[in-house]
Amino acid sequence: MSFSIERYKEESKKLDTAGVAWDTVMEHGLSKGDLFCLHYMMDIENHVPLYLSHLLVTRACMDPILTAFLACWNYEELWHGENIGKFLNLYGIEFDTQDRIANVRANLGFQNSVSILSTMAGSWLLKDFSAVYLSIGAINELTTLTGYGALIRKSGHPVLKDLLGRIIKDERRHFAFYFNSAKEWLIGNEKAQRVDRWMLDRVWVPVGKGVKTQEEVDALAVYLFDDEQGEEELLEIDAKIGRLPGLDRIRLMSKALYEARERISRNPGWGQRLIDNEAWAVAPPKKSPVGALTTRRAAGDYL
Ligand SMILES: [Fe+2]
Ligand SMILES: [Fe+2]
Repeated sequence: MSFSIERYKEESKKLDTAGVAWDTVMEHGLSKGDLFCLHYMMDIENHVPLYLSHLLVTRACMDPILTAFLACWNYEELWHGENIGKFLNLYGIEFDTQDRIANVRANLGFQNSVSILSTMAGSWLLKDFSAVYLSIGAINELTTLTGYGALIRKSGHPVLKDLLGRIIKDERRHFAFYFNSAKEWLIGNEKAQRVDRWMLDRVWVPVGKGVKTQEEVDALAVYLFDDEQGEEELLEIDAKIGRLPGLDRIRLMSKALYEARERISRNPGWGQRLIDNEAWAVAPPKKSPVGALTTRRAAGDYL
């Protein structure tokens, strides 16, 4: 698996959806679980600029190769979220994309600022911060593309298969960048390997956690991966990440699935009740009106 930043810069572009049969989206049904996953995935794709805001304050960004990658990566991820939103709208689920994104962000509240500050401080205190960040990037991209593959399989929806198949190609390139960059950083650097492993074992959380609650993360994990093939795919993610220097036999995604199962055994209905209740709307926070955070006003306000 190779990656060339020069080639990536030349070839990076908005997701090509030419020929996607948008007009037949309604002709094939989706389960509540499929819809739950699509909302989750859309929200996380749309959250990428905020993940980026965390990275741009760290010293990892002293590296021009990394910033070139992030500039293209952020743009590509934008179109993943946009197109999943379009798909849901065409399926008949009505929401305003901008309102939804603003609400997701507003719900983070003060915690987001604390998180930016601690990431910034951590990166300047910890010389090998980049190794951790790059490894997490590799895990997240690999998990995302594996999740899309699982949703293609679960849903059996031909248009969704076509759309997600195209997105998966982008995610593979993202994974290649993060994985190769993490490997370069970790090879022959035992201290970085120790820091990376320690942080992943203790600080890492599945992609989307923080924006989504533990129960939402579990609902998605169990819907997509709680069968023989799904579990195998998660073990395969761990095995691939375990090929990074110092991360031999690490358990991340499989552990997340086993912990989700444990929570369900203690609390039957956990996760599944969100799917059954179609709990995918995002309400604005009670205390900080979104308008005040975005400074946007309705068109009538100007008159
Ligand atoms: Fe994406
Ligand atoms: Fe990606």
